[in-house]
Amino acid sequence: MHPLSSRLDVSGPEFAANAKAMESYVGRVRAVLDKQAATEEKYRPRAEKKGKLLPGERLARLLDPGAPFVELCALAGYGMYDDGDGRYSGGKLIAGIGRVSGRRVVVIVWNYAIKGGTIDRVNVAKMLRLQDVALRQRLPIVSLHESGGGNLVSASAMADPWMARLFTDAGLSYGQQAELSAAGIPQITVSHGNATAGGAYQVALSDSVILVREKTQLFLAGPPLLEAGTGEKATAEDLGGALMHATVSGTGEYLAEDDADAIRIARQVVSQLPPDPQVTPRQPSAEPAYSPEQLLGAFPQDRKVPVDTREIIARVVDGSGFEEFNPMMDAGTVCGTAYLGGHLVGIIGNNGPITPAGANKACLFISMCEQWDAPLIFLQNTTGFLVGTDVERRGQVKHSAKLIQHVANTRLPKLTILIGNAYGAGNYAMGATALKPAFCLAWPSARQAAMGGPQARKVMKIVTEAAWARKGIEADEAMQAGLDQQGQMIEMGLEMISESMFCSARLMDDGIIDPRDTRRVLLELLATVLEARERSPVQSSFGVQRL
Ligand code: COA
Repeated sequence: MHPLSSRLDVSGPEFAANAKAMESYVGRVRAVLDKQAATEEKYRPRAEKKGKLLPGERLARLLDPGAPFVELCALAGYGMYDDGDGRYSGGKLIAGIGRVSGRRVVVIVWNYAIKGGTIDRVNVAKMLRLQDVALRQRLPIVSLHESGGGNLVSASAMADPWMARLFTDAGLSYGQQAELSAAGIPQITVSHGNATAGGAYQVALSDSVILVREKTQLFLAGPPLLEAGTGEKATAEDLGGALMHATVSGTGEYLAEDDADAIRIARQVVSQLPPDPQVTPRQPSAEPAYSPEQLLGAFPQDRKVPVDTREIIARVVDGSGFEEFNPMMDAGTVCGTAYLGGHLVGIIGNNGPITPAGANKACLFISMCEQWDAPLIFLQNTTGFLVGTDVERRGQVKHSAKLIQHVANTRLPKLTILIGNAYGAGNYAMGATALKPAFCLAWPSARQAAMGGPQARKVMKIVTEAAWARKGIEADEAMQAGLDQQGQMIEMGLEMISESMFCSARLMDDGIIDPRDTRRVLLELLATVLEARERSPVQSSFGVQRL
């Protein structure tokens, strides 16, 4: 591999200003996570009174001490539905990929301290994504469950025309639990507290269930609903307590004394799973020659200033070594191989818009990566495919379509980092969520949309003026002012909806990362996708049966 040599002036004022801007953006993301934590902390006195651990404490006890944890979809629902400033965001789940008893697993901790851990649109969307990760990466799921079931407040949000659809989507997550079980992917669940109706199925559809004495309350209808519906009076303990389920109904196999004991049992069950497959790197791992810390100032505040992808690659890959593929052909699309943690990877980045030649180069490179068995890493910063008569004549549409085909259909694992611009069909072709990469993470500087705000404004101005001309309308001052106002709204709207926290809230990626963590996160995710290919879970037709 050729060592890259950086031209980034890391001691100059421009770098310092860029780093400062990025740091403040990272701070905004962190502030939302702090707000989630503060909401949780507010519940502490009640949790202590009830003899429960807080969700974060449960997570800390579950994970192997000191092992990496890649949190996923942490900003889910930020600013949506019942959330204003982030305090109720996160989809009522704390989730990610971590290690339990030395095994790599998907961890899902229900955040009962936020609105009772109730199920709403954001919660269901995040759950579906986490299950998708488990299914595709063949990772066991360890779930620490406690949920008040369906969120009855958001269910009545008539302003959301898709609200009724939540019922179907929630059902999808139960279907996926069944599919995971049949695919031989273990689901180990602690029922820490309330598990009513839909919540009860989330527990009962798991392969191993751990109940907590005098805490689990698992039933289709709780005492008030039962009395209202049938007139029968029953205590929660008789109706769905841990002892009843462990000794009578058989809806759980393990009876724990308290939260900590339940998590100990969960770790014990995980320790009985086969060990993770060992994937041997092709060569020893090495730190980059340039510090990943410098990534903080690598993205310019002024988005019109071009970014050389190689500057980012130099701060991510082993020894900053990069073997560029076909560098004489189209400098705008950068392709090349490198080692990450000793594993060969193929990297595709953007140094400009994607041209027909650039798209072709990337297609060929993907084919070569298949030969070399090098997983793909996309470092996306594209305003999309180049437009204009010249490129149309050179077959831009067919070449860009071919690139989308290559990226969608490659059998190689795909990892994507959205660095900056992620616009138009280029967003798809450069491996963003639409083309189902294994994982897609964003820097705070990422912007995702069909096109930029100013461009959309200009397009609508041209279209409207052409329509006036066609109809023989001569626009007066008021009409022009109206058009200007519409343009402003379009521009502002697009700028707002393309912003990284707005997109991440809607799960258009798997989360926002601090640029300085890019190498660390990629190392974990690369190991995840490489191991996935070596995992061979024992499949069955109907999954684990609790008869
Ligand atoms: N829908 C919407 N919001 C709910 C809710 C539900 N089903 N259940 C609880 N909440 C909200 C509460 O309004 C409260 O909101 P706030 O933080 O703005 O005050 C918050 O969640 C915490 O509820 P609270 O009752 O104070 O907490 P708790 O820890 O003592 O009890 C539950 C939590 C979930 C056990 C309890 O609230 C409950 O039994 N809820 C109803 C469960 C149910 O019947 N669900 C129907 C499923 S179809």
